[in-house]
Amino acid sequence: FSVLERAFSLHKAHSIKDMENTFQLVRNIIPPLSAKKYKGQDGRIGVVGGCQEYTGAPYFAAISALKVGADLSHVFCTKDAAPVIKSYSPELIVHPVLDSPHAVRDVETWLTRLHTLVVGPGLGRDDVLLENVKGILEKSKARGIPVVIDADGLWLIAQQPSLIQGYRKAVLTPNYMEFTRLYEAVLRDPLDSSSHDGAVLRLSQALGNLTIVQKGERDVISDGDRVLVCGLEGSSRRCGGQGDLLSGSLGVLVHWALLAGSEKTDGLNPLLVAAFGACALTRQTNSQAFQKYGRSMTTTDMVAEVGTAFRKLFET
Ligand SMILES: *[C@@H]1O[C@H](CO)[C@@H](O)[C@H](O)[C@H]1NC(C)=O
Repeated sequence: FSVLERAFSLHKAHSIKDMENTFQLVRNIIPPLSAKKYKGQDGRIGVVGGCQEYTGAPYFAAISALKVGADLSHVFCTKDAAPVIKSYSPELIVHPVLDSPHAVRDVETWLTRLHTLVVGPGLGRDDVLLENVKGILEKSKARGIPVVIDADGLWLIAQQPSLIQGYRKAVLTPNYMEFTRLYEAVLRDPLDSSSHDGAVLRLSQALGNLTIVQKGERDVISDGDRVLVCGLEGSSRRCGGQGDLLSGSLGVLVHWALLAGSEKTDGLNPLLVAAFGACALTRQTNSQAFQKYGRSMTTTDMVAEVGTAFRKLFET
């Protein structure tokens, strides 16, 4: 466990036992594989994103959800992006609805069948699409569907924080730029970069204690009460698409964590445990793919490592 011991620390308690415990909590939320289950039980994930310019991001998020262990992965994208995304993979269910005048209604009919929505990969900033996504977020909140928000989904939240404020089933996954924008929009204060962990805690509180994962050299995760840090060794390679691997994996882990409940997470907010698990997994796939491919590593190589990385971290 030496790699993992160095790898991360709890903000409030630093003992190695606590660190190991956090990994154990992730293991606790993973549903056992069983012949008695029916298709769909281990996760039906929806990714909202994908437009003419961006087709890779929603693909990476959706395929990562499958590789982590979801049974079904849907993509809700624009009409012209759909055939492209379908052509990447026969495993995804692709709905060309996001730029339709009935987008909100069309996605809503699927919401009852989805466990988690991942909003933002490859979304872009087209006003019509963002307006539709706003509607989709409202419907998801009304039905209590957990949402993971990334990329231009976060841009939308920075324009209108009230869209998500106080919705505890939301997890935001900003990189440094997105975090700064969000922080300044919500707290109306320039970001003080001297206390980074404190800033993540403050933003979470200001948004009503929803879970925030600030991706970076270390991933800082907070639910307004606790701060977890995941610094598992990855590599210095930062290829585009890694964030999508994180958001897609997180979609599945959020579902599993909420299903398991806080008895399985030792009283810790299940979403914190899910976020920690997804961060550790993304870092581990990065490390493994880097060992094989070095500088030429891309996100496709990382996706191929999800299975072994998952086993190594959570199933040994
Ligand atoms: C958020 O969590 C903090 C720490 O537990 C608590 O003091 C605060 O009241 C919570 N805020 C809301 C809106 O529940």
